[in-house]
Amino acid sequence: MEKQRGSFTNKLGFVLAAAGSAVGLGNLWRFPYLAAKYGGGIFLLVYLVLAVSFGFALMVTEIAIGRKTRLSAVGAYASLNKKFGFLGYLSCLVPFIITPYYCVIGGWVLKYFTVFVTNQVSSAASDDFFTGFITQAAAPVIFFAVYAAATALVVMMGVEKGIEKASRIMMPLLIVMTVIIAVFGLMQPGAVEGVRYYLMPDFSRFSATTVLAAMGQLFYSMSLAMGIMITYGSYMKKDANLEKSVRQIELFDTGIAFMAGLMIIPAVFAFSGGSEEALGKGPSLMFITLPKVFNSMQFGTAVGAVFFLLVLFAALTSSISLTETLVSILMDKLGWKRRKASIVVFVYLLAVGIPVSLGFGIWDFIAPMGMSLLDFFDFISNSVLMPIVAFLTCIFIGYVVKPETVIEEVELNGKFRIQKFYTIMIKYLAPVCLVAILIFAVMEAMGAISV
Ligand code: PFF
Repeated sequence: MEKQRGSFTNKLGFVLAAAGSAVGLGNLWRFPYLAAKYGGGIFLLVYLVLAVSFGFALMVTEIAIGRKTRLSAVGAYASLNKKFGFLGYLSCLVPFIITPYYCVIGGWVLKYFTVFVTNQVSSAASDDFFTGFITQAAAPVIFFAVYAAATALVVMMGVEKGIEKASRIMMPLLIVMTVIIAVFGLMQPGAVEGVRYYLMPDFSRFSATTVLAAMGQLFYSMSLAMGIMITYGSYMKKDANLEKSVRQIELFDTGIAFMAGLMIIPAVFAFSGGSEEALGKGPSLMFITLPKVFNSMQFGTAVGAVFFLLVLFAALTSSISLTETLVSILMDKLGWKRRKASIVVFVYLLAVGIPVSLGFGIWDFIAPMGMSLLDFFDFISNSVLMPIVAFLTCIFIGYVVKPETVIEEVELNGKFRIQKFYTIMIKYLAPVCLVAILIFAVMEAMGAISV
C-alpha cells in the first residue's frame, strides 16, 4: 500500500524539516518550567547528558528504522518483525494523547498574542492575570477551539508545506528574538542569581524525579518514542549522513531549549524573586514571567506581540505535524479520505481538549491522581507511555533484529563512529534505566514514595 515515497531534495532539507517538527512548545514552554522546578543547573546537566547519550541513540534508531523500511511507524515495526507490529500502534497512541492538550496551550499563546496586539501588556504583567484567564469557562475554550480549527484546516487542505516554508523565516527570527529578550532580562537587577541557578548544578537537588522529568522532556522535545522520527526517516535519502543529521537536529533543538531557559529563569529571579513558589509554577511559568519582562521594556508591547506571534508559529508547525500524523493514521488504516479524517480528528481534539481546558476552572474537581487534567495527560504520555515505547524499542533492536541492522543502515554513508557505545546503550544501559524510571514514575504517581 506504500506508494512511491518522496524524499527530501537536499540534505539540509531533512535536518530542517525534522528540526521544525522538534522545535515547538516543548522547547519554549515546557523546558524552562521543568528546569525552573527541578533545580535549574542540575536539571540542565542531566538533560544534556541524556540528550547526547540516550536521546542520540534513540533518534539514530528511529530514523534508521524509517529509512530502512521506507514505512511509517505502524508498518515499519511490523515489516522488521511481525510480532512487534503492536509497538507501532503503541507509539501512535502518544500523539493521540499529546495533540489535544498541545492545542490548549496553543490557545493560550494565541490569547497572549491578542493581549499584546491590543496593548494590555500592563494587566498581563500582573500576578493573577494568567490564572484569571485559564480558570474562566468560555474564553480559554474559545481560544483553544480557534487554534485547533486553524491546525485542522491546514491539515485538511494539505497545505502544510506553505506553513513550513513560512516557518523557515519565522524560526530564525524566533531565535533572534529569544536572544534579545534573554539579554534584556539578564541586565535586570537580580537576574545574575537566576543565571547561577540555571547554570551551576546543585548536586544536592539530584533525585530520580530529576531524571524522570528530564527523560520525559527529552522524548517530548525531540519528538521521540512516538513514531514521528520513523516517518521522517522514511523520507530521508540513502546518501545523507544519518549520524551527522541526528547531531545537527539535537544541537538545534537543545540550543533553542537552552536559550528559552536563559530567557525565562533569570527573569523569574529578577521579577518574581526566585522563590521556590515562583520557580515551581509549572505550565504557567512562561505566561506569568514573560509579560513582566515585556512590561518593563521599552517598546515592550511591540516586542511582546512579535514574540508571541513567533511562538504561535513554532507551536502551529508542531501541532500541524502532530495532527497530520493522526489524520494519516486514520487515512491509512481505515481508508478514509483526508477531509473526513481531518474532521473526525478535529472533533476528537475538541472532545478531549475542552475538558482539559475546563480542568483549570469549573471542572477542577476532575483531578486524576491529584493532577490537573493537562498534567495528567502530560504524565501519561511523557512519563509512562514514552518510556514503555522506548524500552520496547531497545529490546526489539537490541535482541530481536539486533543492533547491526541499525548500524548497517547508518553506515550506508560513512563510518558510524560510536557504534560500540550505541550497542551498549541499546542493549544494556537504556533498557535498565528505563525500567528503573518507569517503576519510579508509577510509584511516585501512586504516592507510594515521597520525594
Ligand atoms: N517536539 C515538539 C515540541 O517540542 O514542541 C512536539 C512535537 C511536535 C511532537 C511534532 C511531535 C510532533 F510530531
